[in-house]
Amino acid sequence: MDVDVAAYRDRFPIFKNATYLNSCSQGALADTVRGAMDHYMDGMDELGSHWDQWVGKQEEVRGLLARLFNTTPGEVAVTASASAAIDSIASALFLDDGPRTVVTTSLEFPTAGQIWHAQAARGVSVVHVPAGPGHLLAIDALAAAIDDDTALVSVTHVCYRNGAMTDLAAVIELAHSRGVRVLVDAYQTAGAVPIDFTALGADFLVGGCLKYLLGMPGVGFGLVTKEACAALVPTSTGWHAARDIFAMDIYGYDPATDARRFEAGTPVVPSLYAVASGLDLLLEIGVDRAWEVSSNLHDQLRAGVGELGGTVVTPGGTGEHGPMIAIASTDEHALVRAMAEDRVIVSSRDGNIRISPHFYNDGIDIEAALTSMRRHRHLLA
Ligand SMILES: Cc1ncc(COP(=O)(O)O)c(C=O)c1O
Repeated sequence: MDVDVAAYRDRFPIFKNATYLNSCSQGALADTVRGAMDHYMDGMDELGSHWDQWVGKQEEVRGLLARLFNTTPGEVAVTASASAAIDSIASALFLDDGPRTVVTTSLEFPTAGQIWHAQAARGVSVVHVPAGPGHLLAIDALAAAIDDDTALVSVTHVCYRNGAMTDLAAVIELAHSRGVRVLVDAYQTAGAVPIDFTALGADFLVGGCLKYLLGMPGVGFGLVTKEACAALVPTSTGWHAARDIFAMDIYGYDPATDARRFEAGTPVVPSLYAVASGLDLLLEIGVDRAWEVSSNLHDQLRAGVGELGGTVVTPGGTGEHGPMIAIASTDEHALVRAMAEDRVIVSSRDGNIRISPHFYNDGIDIEAALTSMRRHRHLLA
């Protein structure tokens, strides 16, 4: 049975003050997520250090992420950010005299691009395949860039600047047919678009929990297949990545056998509380249902922007976009500010404003955004 998402709206106090349409930057704060942070603080007053509960929270988050992405907890590394996950994976690559090129795209978030370029010190070169028409990555262009020296294909699922979505199944099939591993940066889709890590077949999938996963900054994740865990030993590490974190051994390096080997030091514990609570709530609603809600709102938004004579930059075909819709502006910063004065919260990148609904938004929110854009029509391109 469909979850009645309207019944959840009151759980997000921001809607009393504003039309919040910026989940691509930070998800709206739920009452239970705030409550979980309070619970952590109460524990500090009552118990001081309560390590057992903290480690338990890390494991709870791992289990919830595994459920969300249909994988096993052993394939989930809980990290401090998406960057930390990519960095730890990168540290385990290029350690032999094998291939040394990373093939990536022009659509990546800076962190992925920068981490691959930082591997130049290990003799790695990076090839960026430019996106084709409509900001979509053409599989032919990717195929042409992969050669015998390709060690990894690294793609974003959805581009943070324009909302275009990568055809992951095609990328993974292509790369694997050439014997090349694939890393997916799913930060802009995690929690908004259904992702089944097991069915997908990517070797690595990274993201973080503060956007559509309803959490707070400080918790990211790296999903790593069992095969990749067995084959790769990170050199970027820490005691929480050890096989036995309480062994306290300073005379050797004995990493966990599963994806925990891609973790590092003390987790951002307060954020784990928030993230566990956010994931609980999202799993109650279901990502399928969330995607259904935001897809309907996209249709309304695209039609309204068309009526205003504006330009939706994000491609519109099935499988061509994620939760965020980018709209061209002559001055995106001014438009974000003007809309904020109308109490409509959106964000901007690269000449576009970004409107990113989630399950807690409704048609009235989209109308409010359209009314505000109409008022500031001169800032639409
Ligand atoms: C697609 C994408 N990748 C990576 C990041 C950065 O993640 P982190 O700050 O957790 O490293 C973001 C942040 O907005 C993002 O949108």
